Amino acid sequence: PPSMLGNRKDGSEIAVAENYADINWDELGFSLVPTDYMYVMKCAKGDKFSQGSIVPFGNIEISPSAGILNYGQGLFEGLKAHRTEDGHVLLFRPDENAQRMKRGADRLCMPSPSPGQFVNAVKQIVIANKRWVPPPGKGSLYIRPLLIGTGALLGVAPAPEYTFLIYCSPVGSYQKGALNLKVEDKLYRAISGCGGTGGIKSVTNYAPVYTAMADAKANGFSDVLFLDSATGKHIEEASACNVFVLKDNAISTPAIDGTILPGITRKSIIDIAIDLGYQVMERSVSVEEMLGADEMFCTGTAVVVNSVASVTYKETRVDYKTGPATLSSKLRKTLVGIQTGCLEDKKSWTV
Ligand code: COI
Repeated sequence: PPSMLGNRKDGSEIAVAENYADINWDELGFSLVPTDYMYVMKCAKGDKFSQGSIVPFGNIEISPSAGILNYGQGLFEGLKAHRTEDGHVLLFRPDENAQRMKRGADRLCMPSPSPGQFVNAVKQIVIANKRWVPPPGKGSLYIRPLLIGTGALLGVAPAPEYTFLIYCSPVGSYQKGALNLKVEDKLYRAISGCGGTGGIKSVTNYAPVYTAMADAKANGFSDVLFLDSATGKHIEEASACNVFVLKDNAISTPAIDGTILPGITRKSIIDIAIDLGYQVMERSVSVEEMLGADEMFCTGTAVVVNSVASVTYKETRVDYKTGPATLSSKLRKTLVGIQTGCLEDKKSWTV
């Protein structure tokens, strides 16, 4: 790896940090631990992104009339870097995040970095913040790319300027233990069949679920499970992860139809499960079917793979199998094994 990342505007050199940051690696949760650097690249409307730079992590200056602040013109991504036992740092399928950001940018009328620019920027920011990549077994470096309309405007229109920014934070587990989900039957996460944005990582998809989450948490649940807005009879996803059910030897997960976030962990778990000999179906999954499943689990970059211990729908509560003998545990071990370099990466997913 290079020992120098380049020069700052004032000519001083940016060195690759070789040591570990001085924090307690055993206490990582999923909250922001600011690291040394972030990556910033700007582009005017109608132009292409060209040159970005690594700058110290810190606040950004933004006009009160920026497109992102007024009209929510923005996307985010999430991916992780893991440190291997022999000291390498691995990214997991960063090209998939690049492609997903591009699709979202097209939907929100934003220019996007090319997949090559995206992956290169991710590599640069991880190298710059290398001392914040947790030791093996202690967690990962969560990488958060943003694409936001930062240009000022007043009328409803695409912003005149865009910023692609990446910051990162060392993280541990997103959730503590298996989940107890409450099915939300009044508020919907995404609109079916009318060009909604449930299938892209728009920043506007997240705050609208807070009331349902807060209500569920106040009643002792870990998270909310959303239903389809067209019929209210089929499961969609939780607030920040995809869901799967297992019945006999068959796994089902809601199909990507515009309302489901096309999770990269979701896609990887489908491939891993098929390789392990399971039948995997991407289709509508009814609430009844879910309540009759043998096992249920959720997937996401932040959550990885986690078992669902129970689902409560109106007055009905169903408990599912959890623990080391579950399919969820087996899938998680395989995925994490590939991500951390402990298992052979036969599909060339790691970079
Ligand atoms: C991720 O898993 O990266 C997500 O986007 C979930 C996040 C909202 C914590």
